Amino acid sequence: MQKIAVLVSGGGTNLQALLDAESAGRLPGGKIVLVIASNPTAYALERAKAAGIEGIVVRKKDYNTQQEFDSAMLNALLSRGIGVIVLAGYLSLLGDPVVKAYPQRIINIHPSLIPSFCGAGYYGLRVHQAALDYGVKVTGATVHYVNEIYDNGKILLQKAVEVQEGDTPETLQRRVMEQAEWQILPQAAAMVCERLNQEQKEEAQG
Ligand code: GRF
Repeated sequence: MQKIAVLVSGGGTNLQALLDAESAGRLPGGKIVLVIASNPTAYALERAKAAGIEGIVVRKKDYNTQQEFDSAMLNALLSRGIGVIVLAGYLSLLGDPVVKAYPQRIINIHPSLIPSFCGAGYYGLRVHQAALDYGVKVTGATVHYVNEIYDNGKILLQKAVEVQEGDTPETLQRRVMEQAEWQILPQAAAMVCERLNQEQKEEAQG
């Protein structure tokens, strides 16, 4: 069983999709035990509280250096025996010490079909604005592993969503969330937990 930490910055609809998936038995190999918010106002913390899950804030500006921030984050994770980290609308950059401590154990949801509309500066509504500006007929969401390069790790799952006539960034974001993000993030989390549990079982068998 993998202990999962979900890192959030905003409304937490992706966190809610993960919580609902776990309640529905669609996350059999993992258990969400911690939510870490990058700021105290993230509504995602309310969702964690309602679900009876520990929610903490690890905020960059509360630390003097990136190193201190990274070690606070790493300590919060290791001290609770976290095995899988899910970035769900998380807008801070995870420091190298955390990424290195969790190889192939960190996943992120990005609201486009990577490699389109990703990388520095592409987050939230900006991603959908860029898709509309470009005039793509299809967009979607991607779950990928997190490595040291932003939005660059191996792709786990993608789901396409059609762009509709008259879409605004808000209507497109909503459709991508409903039809793609909230489906593939729980699926990907279940896949990672399953793989890790299998690896640990094989290691134990020697
Ligand atoms: C959404 O734009 C989502 O696509 C991206 O983060 C934003 C907020 O998501 N991953 P959430 O509602 O906080 O999960």
